[in-house]
Amino acid sequence: MDLEVVTGDIGGVTADAIVVGLLEGNDSLDQETGAVDAALDGAIRQLIIQGETKGRLGENTLVHTLGKLPAARVVIAGLGKEADLTEDKVRGIVAGTCRLLRGKGAKSIASVPLGAGLAGIGDAAAVQAVVEGALLGLYRFRRHKSGGDDDNGDIERLQIVVAGAKRRPSLVKGARLGEVLAGATVLARDMGNEPANFMTPSDMVREAKEIATRNRLEIEVLEREQMEELGMGGLLGVARGSHQPPKFIIMRYRGRRSKVVDIALVGKAITFDSGGISLKPAASMNDMNGDMCGGAAVLGAMSAIGQLKPKVNVLALVPATENLPGGNALKPTDVVTALEGKTIEIISTDAEGRLILADALGYARQQKAKRIVDVATLTGACVVALGTVCTAVLGNNQELVDGIIAAGAEAGEKMWQLPTYDEYKEQNKSDIADIKNTGGRNAGAITAALFIGEFAGDTPWAHLDIAGTNMLDKQRNYEVKGATGVPVRTLVNLVISLAGK
Ligand code: BES
Ligand code: MN
Ligand code: ZN
Repeated sequence: MDLEVVTGDIGGVTADAIVVGLLEGNDSLDQETGAVDAALDGAIRQLIIQGETKGRLGENTLVHTLGKLPAARVVIAGLGKEADLTEDKVRGIVAGTCRLLRGKGAKSIASVPLGAGLAGIGDAAAVQAVVEGALLGLYRFRRHKSGGDDDNGDIERLQIVVAGAKRRPSLVKGARLGEVLAGATVLARDMGNEPANFMTPSDMVREAKEIATRNRLEIEVLEREQMEELGMGGLLGVARGSHQPPKFIIMRYRGRRSKVVDIALVGKAITFDSGGISLKPAASMNDMNGDMCGGAAVLGAMSAIGQLKPKVNVLALVPATENLPGGNALKPTDVVTALEGKTIEIISTDAEGRLILADALGYARQQKAKRIVDVATLTGACVVALGTVCTAVLGNNQELVDGIIAAGAEAGEKMWQLPTYDEYKEQNKSDIADIKNTGGRNAGAITAALFIGEFAGDTPWAHLDIAGTNMLDKQRNYEVKGATGVPVRTLVNLVISLAGK
């Protein structure tokens, strides 16, 4: 989609539709809405008087201009009550409006920066939110449809029209930030939505290489032999049940001269999780092509980081494999040895994510990463605890956890911290090895995180369990059905926030 920030009067813009805002419970129209109303001979006021248009959050009123304005249609987008308005609400409002207009066959839209100057939302932030809402809300995954369906085509152009010559450079910057963040999220969504036969570990390598080339990032991929030399017993163990070769993707972004790795981002990439020998029931396998969404989020975030160029050094690690029950597969009762020598008793081969993450965290420590953040669709228990609304965050360092929660709030990606009391560690104790890979039903998201935490040692570390938030089975605001791309924007915000430290 072509994006443009223009200054001038929205009423004068030529487009298939123009979008203005209306607050709920506020009798006066803002300047732009008032001007459009005047051009329409008071049609908007009339709709309000008749109670048809109330400005409720997410309400859209479509008015045909019948030649009174260059644009054929006006949409009055309800903003809700001013006190409740947030940047994230703006994203959702814009998504709804854009989808409505796509349904009407609109190809070009012009919008005011909805929310600007309201509820403490700055102009640049409003522009950014409008761009993210449009790009993320209009997202569709149609790669495997052969066409000929009666879908309307995509909206090709979005102009954000700002009255007066207000600090245009900062608004353009807001638009670009929104575009980069949404683009990175779309990359992660695309990977997450691919069927498992189109997103094998080798396919992830291809995606990672494309991202690296486009954004001038360093990339290295470890093959099975190198994993063996390094002693990656977790990743190799999980990969044994599959014919697809495992891959360990290493990407580096250098934002400052020092060799120090300021942060390692680690993403679980099980490209299909059948459970392995501890086979999942068929119904539970439905979405397990999305078990690589942690890895996809890390790769997506790296693409944005490469474009935004914060002064931070970032190491991205994505262990990738299928988890299948082949004849050579890992079995319950097996013991494997992870990268840094810890032995792990396998209780369930379906608790495979933590096995591959154990090796990746060991690798991050060998690279002397100053901090580690891992992202994984790790536990069904997390979905039970938090549903699809929040990502669980746990860690050994409160400053890092707080930084993630703040970065998430900025992105509109909700994070909720779960505790890591030592008492929970009891559940991971093994009789025959250093640790076992499941801690029982109680507090499953916590014991899984604490398992991973063992491999972080004393490096500041935080873990994001996205098992509930990586995919939605129905649309919600600017998230659509399927992969959400969570927490790409949080990771990018976090890395940017480190640049100041
Ligand atoms: N990939 C799953 C977790 C998952 C479940 C993600 C539902 C998204 C939706 C993970 O590998 C898994 O199977 N975890 C097990 C762990 C258990 C065996 C301790 C689980 O949660 O059941
Ligand atoms: Mn599993
Ligand atoms: Zn899994």
